Amino acid sequence: MSILWLDEVESDQLSGKNVLCRVDFNVPIDTEGNILDAQRIELAIPSIRKLLRANAKVVIISHLGRPKAKVRPALSLQPVADYLRDLLNQEVIFVHDCVGDGVSRIISNAPPASLIMLENLRFHGGEEKNDPVFAKMLARGMDFYIDDAFGAVHRAHASTVGVAKFFEKPMGGLLLKKELKAFDKLLYHADRPFVAIVGGAKVSSKIGVLTQLVKKVDALIIGGAMAYTFLKAQGFEVGVSMVENDKLMQASNLLRKAQELGVKIYLPTDHVVARAQDQSDIKVVASGEFAPTQAGFDIGPQSRAEFCGVIKRAETVFLNGPLGMCEVEAFSHGTAEIMNALAHTQGYTVVGGGDSIAALKHAGLVEKIDFVSSGGGAALELLEGKVLPGLEALGFY
Ligand code: 3PG
Repeated sequence: MSILWLDEVESDQLSGKNVLCRVDFNVPIDTEGNILDAQRIELAIPSIRKLLRANAKVVIISHLGRPKAKVRPALSLQPVADYLRDLLNQEVIFVHDCVGDGVSRIISNAPPASLIMLENLRFHGGEEKNDPVFAKMLARGMDFYIDDAFGAVHRAHASTVGVAKFFEKPMGGLLLKKELKAFDKLLYHADRPFVAIVGGAKVSSKIGVLTQLVKKVDALIIGGAMAYTFLKAQGFEVGVSMVENDKLMQASNLLRKAQELGVKIYLPTDHVVARAQDQSDIKVVASGEFAPTQAGFDIGPQSRAEFCGVIKRAETVFLNGPLGMCEVEAFSHGTAEIMNALAHTQGYTVVGGGDSIAALKHAGLVEKIDFVSSGGGAALELLEGKVLPGLEALGFY
C-alpha cells in the first residue's frame, strides 16, 4: 500500500468540501503569546494554500505542548491562529474547542475557502488515548482528512490514527510527503560517502537511531555529552563529564558493530573542558587528559578540523543534535563550526532535532541546508526503522 498524497487529488474534487487537516503546530510560545519559532507553521502553508485555492473549507487541528487533558490557557492555539492570519493575510476563524455541537455549527456556517482553526486537541483526554468516540467527533461533518503533521506521526492519537478510519481515503499532506522523501533518500538512496553526525546529551535517547545508522553510513561522528559515554567505554579518563554508566555496554557494542561493518567512528580527540561545578577555568585538553574535576562541554579545535574535513568529503550528511553545550556561548563554537561546514559542503545535507535547528538559525544557515526536518521524535523513530502509527493509518506500510 502507499499513501494517497494531496497533490495527486484534483482541485475540483476538493472544491466546496470540508477538509480536516492535522498539522503539527507544536511551536514554542512565550508568556506574552509570541511565537518563538514559526518554522512548523510556515512549513504547513503549502498544503493549506492548496486547499484554500481549491475552494475547500479547511479545518486545522493540532496539539500544543502537553496539557494532559486539561484546558490550560497558556497552551491555547489562539496565538498560532493569529500568526497564521498575519502570515496568510486572511481571516482565520478560531474556535475555542475542537469537538462538539458548537464547533460543528461554526464549521457548517462558514463559507467555502474559509480557514478554521480548532483549539488544542490535547485539552481532551480522548486525543492521547486514541479514543474512538473522540476520533468520530473530530471526523463529524468532514469530507476529507489530511495528515500533514510529520512531527506527530509517531503518536497513536485520535487525530493521527483513530480519525483516519472514518474516511475512505485518508491523505498525506505536502509537508509529510517532503519529509518522507528526504528520509527515504537518506535511508535507501544516499550518495556515498554518507556521514551521520549525532550529538546531544544522552546516549539513551539516540542509541536506537545510532544502531540503525551504523548499518547505513560510511562514517559516524559522535559529539555532544554522549560522546563521553563512548570515550569511557573505550577506556578513556573523562573526569566528571556526563556519562551514562548503564549505557557503557551498549556503547561498546555499537563501536564493535561499526568495526565489523567497516564503518569509521569519529569521536572527539580534544575537548573544551571546564570545572564541572561552575563551568569556570575553561581549557582545551586531549582525550584521556581530563583532571578529576573537569567535564567536557564542547569538541576542541582539533576535532572540529577533523570533523569538518570528513563533512567536506561527504556526498550525504545527516546531523541530529548539537556537538556541545551550545546554549552557552563559550561552548557553542564546535557546533557552530560543524554547522558552517555542513552549510558549505557540496553534498546533500539533512538536519533534524530542535536544538540543532536552533543552532542553524542562530548562525543564519538554515537556507543553506538541503532539508531541515520538522520532526523531532518522529524523525528519530523513522530512522530507527520503527512502524509509525500515523503513517500506518494512511496506508504507508
Ligand atoms: C514534537 O514536538 O516532537 C511533536 O509535536 C510531538 O510532541 P509530543 O512529544 O508532545 O507528542
